[in-house]
Parts: sequence; structure tokens; C-alpha cells
Amino acid sequence: MSQKTKIAVFASGSGSNFEAIAKACLAGELNAEVVLLITDKPEAYAVERAQKLGITTAAFSPKAYGTKAQYEQAILDRLQASDVEWLVLAGYMRLVGETLLQAYPSHIVNIHPSLLPSFPGKAAIEQAVLHGVKVTGVTVHLVDEGMDTGPILAQEAVRVIDGDVEKTAEAIHAIEHTLFKETLHSLLTRK
Ligand code: GRF
Repeated sequence: MSQKTKIAVFASGSGSNFEAIAKACLAGELNAEVVLLITDKPEAYAVERAQKLGITTAAFSPKAYGTKAQYEQAILDRLQASDVEWLVLAGYMRLVGETLLQAYPSHIVNIHPSLLPSFPGKAAIEQAVLHGVKVTGVTVHLVDEGMDTGPILAQEAVRVIDGDVEKTAEAIHAIEHTLFKETLHSLLTRK
């Protein structure tokens, strides 16, 4: 088998997508290795998941840096020290800046819980339910300087269940875990 692609997953919260990707790598479903979990929130549950999986976490607090460029440079130094090739954003609640975009052109992927370009930004599931749409979904896309605006790689529709955020979120997460893995597989095998 060809050499495994080194990826870093970025997460700020629960990390269920991080765990799904890490497990897919460990199971050999993805020819990749999650070499780092990067977080801006050391208290995130994703960190516990990483510990259980034996994956190194690197936490960077934006407040510890004078500028966003300095914050991202510190992350970049860590990524380069581990020879990371792809950045996978899985619930990373910050806009990626110039420093990382320039270091990883077309090599940063994000997952978003709506059918973009509808409902970009925070609380996308709540936005969709509040709007009264009957179908929402999941988008995996390449990251550019905008908020959830980069080229779309994959989408899957999910029906809004009983106008209920929690039930719909559960259905969305289940789809996310499969769609992210499949999309990464296509990306990594076409390089
Ligand atoms: C997911 O819904 C993802 O689409 C969005 O943030 C959420 C992260 O969930 N960007 P988790 O932390 O992976 O459980």
C-alpha cells in the first residue's frame, strides 16, 4: 500500500467527526493517518476522544497571540514539524486566515451542516429549522477565505424531522460521519 497521507483534524467542540475520521484511518478505510488534533479549545470533548485514540493534541489559545497571523504561524510550525499534508476542519469554529491558506493551498477541507450556499456560518441546523425548510443537509467543501464559501466537493440532503433541531441534528451527524470519510477517500486517492 502507498504511504499514508498525514492529516491534521481541527476541532473546537465535541469531535464526533474527528473520531469518525480517526477510526476510519485506524481501520484502513482511509489511506491516511491523523497525526494531530488541533484545537483552539483545550477543554473541548474532542481532546478526550483524541486521548482515547492515542492521537496527539496540540491546543493553541488565540488569546495567547497578538494577531491571527501569529496564532496561525504557531499552528503552522506544529503542522510542518509533523509533515502534515492536509487540514481537515471538523467543527473548527474559526475562519481560517491567510497564513494557513497560503501554506495549504486547496488542501484544507471543511464539513458544514447545511446544503451550502444556504445557511452558512454558525448554528446552521437551527437556521434551517427556523427558516422552515423541509430539506437541509451536509456539505463538504474546500476552504477559501470566506465563511463556508469554497468549492463544493460533496453534498447530501437530509430531511428536517418534525421541525425539531435535535432530531434533525442527529440525522445530520450520522450522514456527516459517512460523507466526510467518503469524500476524503476520493480526495486522497486522486492526488
Ligand atoms: C458538525 O455538524 C460540522 O458539520 C460542523 O460542526 C459540527 C461538529 O460536530 N462544522 P462534531 O464536533 O464533529 O461532533
